Amino acid sequence: MENEKWKMENGKCRIKNLEFKIYDLPSSISNFQFPFSIMSIIGIVAVANNFAIGKDGKLPWHYAADLKFFKETTSGNAVVMGFKTWQSIGKPLPKRLNIVLSRSRSIENQPNVLLMRSRDEVLALANYLSGDLFVIGGAATYENFADAIEKWIVTEIPDKIDDADVFMPQSFLDGFFLQNTVDLEDNLKVKIYKKLSEM
Ligand SMILES: NC(=O)c1ccc[n+]([C@@H]2O[C@H](COP(=O)([O-])OP(=O)(O)OC[C@H]3O[C@@H](n4cnc5c(N)ncnc54)[C@H](OP(=O)(O)O)[C@@H]3O)[C@@H](O)[C@H]2O)c1
Repeated sequence: MENEKWKMENGKCRIKNLEFKIYDLPSSISNFQFPFSIMSIIGIVAVANNFAIGKDGKLPWHYAADLKFFKETTSGNAVVMGFKTWQSIGKPLPKRLNIVLSRSRSIENQPNVLLMRSRDEVLALANYLSGDLFVIGGAATYENFADAIEKWIVTEIPDKIDDADVFMPQSFLDGFFLQNTVDLEDNLKVKIYKKLSEM
């Protein structure tokens, strides 16, 4: 079942036309029960020993294994990022719905990119996604979604970046427990944390 804006797949609504107004969606598919989704909201971040995550609008390191892990983990899902991270990446991440948050900026219309004005708009949309929603940064955006994040995927960068200018709060994993550890190449570990109340 489908129209030009959405299609039903395995009982879930997949968004096809990214120009739709999210508030149009419920009435256009009102024959179905809401929400469809059992998606998760997942924070994914790479953090140095001193909690640094950014410097001069960029990542302060380059680890190919972590970039590959990020791509594999997030592909096929939606990612939400703040405008500064959008500028830093410079183009839509392929095979993902790219949701960019800004209160005032505009983005040239392009495939797979959705500009949204508030966290609430993003969370409303998330109910209609058939995949997970990954919060991919930066610090302002992680902070905005902190209470909605059910799982954190944290790459531990084995460096201390003294001259970084963007940091995670040291308490960002409070209320989460370590569920799993994955070893990547390049001497990197990824730790997966779940919210205590999700047990
Ligand atoms: N290590 C990692 O895993 C990682 C991941 C991502 C990014 N980073 C790094 O983090 C740095 C950027 O982080 P940042 O904290 O400075 O910026 P950011 O979160 O990427 O972007 C902040 C901007 O996003 C918009 N925004 C955020 N929350 C919003 C909301 N609730 N509603 C509407 N708009 C909202 C605002 O844009 P407007 O001002 O236009 O309204 C705000 O100025 C860069 O250095 C980047 O490389 C690191």
